[in-house]
Amino acid sequence: MIAIASDHGGFAMKQFLMQRLADKGIPFEDLGCYSEDSVDYPVYGVKAARGVADGAYERAVLICGTGIGMSMAANKVPGVRAALCADCYSAQATREHNDSNVLCLGGRTIGPELAWKILDIWLTTPFSGLEKHARRIGMVMELDD
Ligand code: RB5
Repeated sequence: MIAIASDHGGFAMKQFLMQRLADKGIPFEDLGCYSEDSVDYPVYGVKAARGVADGAYERAVLICGTGIGMSMAANKVPGVRAALCADCYSAQATREHNDSNVLCLGGRTIGPELAWKILDIWLTTPFSGLEKHARRIGMVMELDD
């Protein structure tokens, strides 16, 4: 199960991506927000990120205007490795190299079709498992302690 969440800046893109996920039969839970009314992105980003850290969700997708605020908030949650992606190569590399468990997207910076391509690649690309990448991830995760 993946979580998906946004603020008002990512609301339209969240609606679009949820339709694509549903079309593909990928289970997800919508953690809000639920309209284009202005809200505070940390509320939604941290809720989803904590859900990933707690094991309630395998991964999460967070969308705000730029994806930047969501990535800042999510990366404050111990156990979370959030990656802001605006291109397909980064989506693939952050799974293979960083084993990222949260994807952040900018609802105002990229179009919906590119966002879907990025999300699809991110969801389907496994971690490489290479020792050098595991070691580097370990070094980053030690900072949580
Ligand atoms: C909201 O206007 C905007 O600041 C937010 O969506 C996001 O881009 C923050 O990083």
